Amino acid sequence: MALNEYEIKKQICDIGKRIYDRNMVAANDGNISVKLNDNEFLCTPTGVSKGFMTPEFICKVDAEGKVLQANKGFRPSSEIKMHMRVYQKRPDVGSVVHAHPTFATAFAIAGIPLTQPIMPEAVIALGCVPIAPYGTPSTMEIPDAVEPYLEHFDQVLLESHGALTWGQDLQTAYYKMESVEFYAELLYKARQLGGPKEFDEKTVQRLYEIRRQMGLPGRHPADLCQNKGQANCHNCGNCSSSGANGGASEEMISEITRKVLASLGK
Ligand code: 13P
Repeated sequence: MALNEYEIKKQICDIGKRIYDRNMVAANDGNISVKLNDNEFLCTPTGVSKGFMTPEFICKVDAEGKVLQANKGFRPSSEIKMHMRVYQKRPDVGSVVHAHPTFATAFAIAGIPLTQPIMPEAVIALGCVPIAPYGTPSTMEIPDAVEPYLEHFDQVLLESHGALTWGQDLQTAYYKMESVEFYAELLYKARQLGGPKEFDEKTVQRLYEIRRQMGLPGRHPADLCQNKGQANCHNCGNCSSSGANGGASEEMISEITRKVLASLGK
């Protein structure tokens, strides 16, 4: 059942609290938007903590990011142009989330994209997470830097800044942010333990095939690989993965596949 505007505003507040409580934003950081229709979008206001919003905080803008409605004292996010670029280039997208989750942002600051295929869920849900080159916040530099990734991905790291995710609805866009951060945290910790075992090409391709069979919405390198007929796993242009998998056997691969499907309720 479609939610009414007030319920969507409440949902934005709930997700704002969630990203704040989960350490994905500090103080007044981060922003969230939801598409209502082709010319109406709800967004978080600038300069408030996204952890303590109520529905009256939420602003409404048009497709150019201009204010349609905002209560006294509230102006749309300073990053609204970044959100609008995603909606312009991806008509399938219904929501955009920007946050500064600790581990993902640490990789963004170090300039390291998340390209190592290390766990089935990240490979299926994300493929990989490229880095959009640094842009000054609130300027057109960030939308311009993000644009090249919109066609093939549903998430990017923003160099020296944070992360941006998008999806068909708010929950999907938020879950992408969780997945990016979880992947970044695991990759960081595995590196502390001597480095992750990467899946080999065959294992990645099997996971990509699962994603295709599941018909998951959104964009993913699995679709790019199929379209281009390429064999390599990560097509973000940043991949330096060695492809060493530590000897994954057929049994291990099928066990992983079973677990993935079970966790996805298939
Ligand atoms: P706003 O409060 O203007 O949305 O900005 C927060 C932020 O994180 C900018 O990158």
